[in-house]
Amino acid sequence: MKPIITLAGLVLAVASAFAQAEPIVIKFSHVVAEDTPKGKGALLFKRLAEERLPGQVSVEVYPNSSLYGDADELEALREDKVQLLAPSLAKFEQYTKQVQVFDLPFLFDDIDAVNRFQKRAKGRQLLRSMETHNITGLAYWHNGMKQLSATRPLHRPADAAGLSFRIQPSAVLQAQFDAVGANSQKLPFAQVYSALKAGSVQGAENPWSNIYSKNMHQVQPYITETNHGVLDYMLVTNTRFWMSMPHKVRFELEAIIDEVTYMVNQEAEQLNQADRERIRQAGTSQIIALSDEERQAWREKMRPVWQQFEPVIGADIIKAAEHVNRRSR
Ligand code: LMR
Repeated sequence: MKPIITLAGLVLAVASAFAQAEPIVIKFSHVVAEDTPKGKGALLFKRLAEERLPGQVSVEVYPNSSLYGDADELEALREDKVQLLAPSLAKFEQYTKQVQVFDLPFLFDDIDAVNRFQKRAKGRQLLRSMETHNITGLAYWHNGMKQLSATRPLHRPADAAGLSFRIQPSAVLQAQFDAVGANSQKLPFAQVYSALKAGSVQGAENPWSNIYSKNMHQVQPYITETNHGVLDYMLVTNTRFWMSMPHKVRFELEAIIDEVTYMVNQEAEQLNQADRERIRQAGTSQIIALSDEERQAWREKMRPVWQQFEPVIGADIIKAAEHVNRRSR
């Protein structure tokens, strides 16, 4: 017997074949301005994901701590209230001690050395170091090397003594300022500008792009080009959320992340140098270059922090990181 197809049945079948499931919503929250390596990376991810997975994925980007800030974003990720973050590597110590390697002062000669470490096995391994906390690292994104800014000129470590510096929530960074006789205060990024303006802290350490995009140069008359440490990011997701996506969507998103990572990491240094130049032209802060001998003095004072944290970070990880520097010291 021939099956009887009614018009209504046909319409229903066609409609359901074309019916779109609700798109997967990915909230990407971060704390910096849009015109920074991370801010641009988040927007590029949104654009490519929505272009290549139309109707399947919708990405909402929340910059400038507008959805979550430093204090609550990682908990929000673990609870699946937000699905992508890229916190600075200094912000994970509650979940893994190993990632603290990136905060060690004067460990990496430059951003290229950081890049090499992130690509090697030990660096890649750290992306998986928080999975028991439901956090998976998808990529490393560069911002850049940090500079020291203050209300007075910093040439030698003794110049920092007695000043209070804003730091990210990292015991290594606290020890780094202890080592030069300075004080430190852990503050969320959203409060840095106002704390510097009010004078409750007198100094900070940031890459050029964060200084410029948050107008810190307007309240810090001296910036010493120390390049003493790195401020990079780990793009992280909620492990269970990520694994619950259909394979095809996940693989496509991972390919997009590779592409975005390449772009962010290609452009970060240029962006930082352009912001350095904008700060110089603004004329609000004197940019201080260190002589080799002065830089060596900072290095010598801060270097004991490595030994202090070796038992928690792991000697093998520190060695692997140290190994990537081209220059011998
Ligand atoms: C900071 O708190 O200084 C940085 O981690 C901000 C950022 O995300 O670049």
